[in-house]
Amino acid sequence: MFKPVELKKFDFSSIKGISTEQLTQHYQLYKGYVDTINRIWGGEKKNDTRCIQLAQSYSANGVKLHQLYFENLGGDCKKSFGSILSLMERDFGSYSEFEKRFKDIGGVMRGWVVLAFDPLDKRLHIYGSDAHDEGSIWDAVPLLVMDVYEHAYMIDFGIDKKRYINVFFNNINWNAVNERLVKNVYNEKCHTLEHTVKKPRRGLKFWEK
Ligand SMILES: [Fe+2]
Repeated sequence: MFKPVELKKFDFSSIKGISTEQLTQHYQLYKGYVDTINRIWGGEKKNDTRCIQLAQSYSANGVKLHQLYFENLGGDCKKSFGSILSLMERDFGSYSEFEKRFKDIGGVMRGWVVLAFDPLDKRLHIYGSDAHDEGSIWDAVPLLVMDVYEHAYMIDFGIDKKRYINVFFNNINWNAVNERLVKNVYNEKCHTLEHTVKKPRRGLKFWEK
């Protein structure tokens, strides 16, 4: 039975340095992906063709990545802390090294930069991609997502991608990042919309050395 994907709303009021105009137009792109995936999953188009399969992965990832991106912007926890900070120090040597590498990858990729926890080696990794449906690493848990498509910054920053990335870093909601880590990687008391998880989803302890 088809269940439409919900168009989420986001609070942009605490984001500094990215205009409402930029964010609103960007949100419209996200809305377009929600509409498209609902048309595909709603059966408007048969999804057994190559064309629709490609549209499906592009649109579904377009929805998910934009939701993650908007959710990890703003708020009042704009300095890294807690479990995610401990993991970044473990896996990158220091927070500053993580930030440098994340920003550098943002500079060379055309679509997305994702800090993810990968169960393959139980470590953090930074995965870059040029498009919604390129470079995705299955089963890795996205924790921090940055959109580096030109549409994410051209209105406010022109071609100055580096300045946009610096402003993005000033607006990271580290509380949201920590919540993803707790909810999706290790927490024994994870509450989701559907149910309560009574044991670690992946059997992992995030503090494992
Ligand atoms: Fe985008």
